[in-house]
Amino acid sequence: GAPVEVDITGLEPGELINVKWRGDPVWLFRRTDQNLDDLEGIRDRLRDPDSDEPQQPEYARNTHRSIEPELMVMVGICTHLGCSPLFRPDQTPEGMDGEWPGGFFCPCHGSYFDLAGRVFRGVPADKNMEVPPYYFMDDDTVLVG
Ligand code: FES
Repeated sequence: GAPVEVDITGLEPGELINVKWRGDPVWLFRRTDQNLDDLEGIRDRLRDPDSDEPQQPEYARNTHRSIEPELMVMVGICTHLGCSPLFRPDQTPEGMDGEWPGGFFCPCHGSYFDLAGRVFRGVPADKNMEVPPYYFMDDDTVLVG
């Protein structure tokens, strides 16, 4: 499919925009400083905190899994059986005992991901969410695809 140009002017910290690429949702989310701190604090609970899996792009092999730490770019599809998770940046769903700092929750079978799409241990999904190919055309324009 054709690449998608996304204007992120006006995307405030804490906000997410949803575009379509190859028929799939792609999410662009501007993390807050708190979100970035939280990504460091939960490593022990994640299955693959540094995205060492070989299918990950080079720029996703770090804590924030993105080119710019504050801007998340992610294919919005659960790596279990392909539902689209819910954006729950502030909410701790039942079953995580208050230990989830928010992220993405897949209601189909209960998988949890953080705000970098990294999967928690002990849920049905066993891979981090996919980071698509993308680059910055300029400070405010991202080309996905
Ligand atoms: Fe997301 Fe099964 S499809 S948990």
